[in-house]
Amino acid sequence: MQNILHPDFAFCIHHSAFKTMPYQITLLPGDGIGPEVIAAAESVLHVLPLEFEFTRAEIGFGAYERLGTPLPDSTLQAIGRADAALFGAVTTPPGLPGYFSPVVRMRQSLDLYANLRPIRSIPHPGSRSNIDFVLVRENTEGLYSGIERLEDGGNRAISERVITRRGSERILRKAFDLARQTGRTKVHLVHKANVLRQTCGLFRQVALEIAPQYPEIEMLEMLVDTCAMELVRAPEQFQVIVTTNLFGDILSDEACMFVGGLGVAASANIGADAAVFEPVHGSAPPLVGTGKANPTATFFAAAMMLEHLGEIEFAARLRHAVETCIAEGQVTPDLGGTLTTSGMTEMVKCRVQNDE
Ligand code: NAI
Ligand code: MG
Repeated sequence: MQNILHPDFAFCIHHSAFKTMPYQITLLPGDGIGPEVIAAAESVLHVLPLEFEFTRAEIGFGAYERLGTPLPDSTLQAIGRADAALFGAVTTPPGLPGYFSPVVRMRQSLDLYANLRPIRSIPHPGSRSNIDFVLVRENTEGLYSGIERLEDGGNRAISERVITRRGSERILRKAFDLARQTGRTKVHLVHKANVLRQTCGLFRQVALEIAPQYPEIEMLEMLVDTCAMELVRAPEQFQVIVTTNLFGDILSDEACMFVGGLGVAASANIGADAAVFEPVHGSAPPLVGTGKANPTATFFAAAMMLEHLGEIEFAARLRHAVETCIAEGQVTPDLGGTLTTSGMTEMVKCRVQNDE
């Protein structure tokens, strides 16, 4: 399918072929500035000529205080029922026994195995130009499998890194399919198989088996440390990067700094039966109520969500509206502007409405 604006997510679209309006969207505002940026995105989505039915569900530390769990089952069910979910951010309380990360748990419970991080230049002095790639990160296994233990009276700590053929194959196929469907010609396979011979070795082996099924796409291997360096030296060389969970976590945060940083970075978590879109940033407690929270990352997350729903043109319109605001300096202080969260939201709404 040809995507007119931002081809990165065209490969999500086959999941949504059967969705019809009104779209069922679960909003997960969370903690801190999460509710502010989610409300901003909701109000922008409302000005599009589409029908949405929004439901809100609880997640995070506030949910824990109110309900005794940071991720109620009802929230997982609401995400599973919806066509897509838009998530704000959560606060992690330090050192609370029995507390678990609702974000990691959500990804694992809903098997949201593909984390997609588009890294794309924006019209802003803080962004390098000519960058347009997608980092595809395995989202459910690897070093984040959650299998840890203490031995030797607490003096030896062990984490197990689990890599499976199934987990590797589905994320590698996502990456190659994404490349194919967006007309990209290169996939960088990032690993450390020279040291992690079994785990990265299996990931690499599965990639070598799959790659010949995509003859038009060149697969290039890069060690993760080299990749970290090359991302700084020449990020424009990349089209698609595919890697395991921890490596992808680190590289994707590194990469977003070339294209405007945390205020603008968005990501998608895609599974076979559910999809959650989110700004990359956290709950930014010092910004709560100041009007300084930049809603851009959540707007871009909402645009990714529209693409997932198959609403390619409206996704394009939203992205274009946000980029025009950025280019004209109609932004929050973190991007050098003077607008508040709601001031920028109003500008984006105007542009979305007028750009028909
Ligand atoms: P953070 O992303 O909340 O903030 C890092 C820096 O970026 C701060 O200077 C903040 O003011 C700024 N920032 C973040 N979002 C912004 C926005 N929309 N507009 C303007 N500036 C923005 O990360 P931090 O401070 O490390 O963590 C704060 C809390 O968020 C912690 O409890 C952490 O565990 C949690 N967190 C949650 C995440 C999630 O829900 N996905 C991701 C990262 C952190
Ligand atoms: Mg991260």
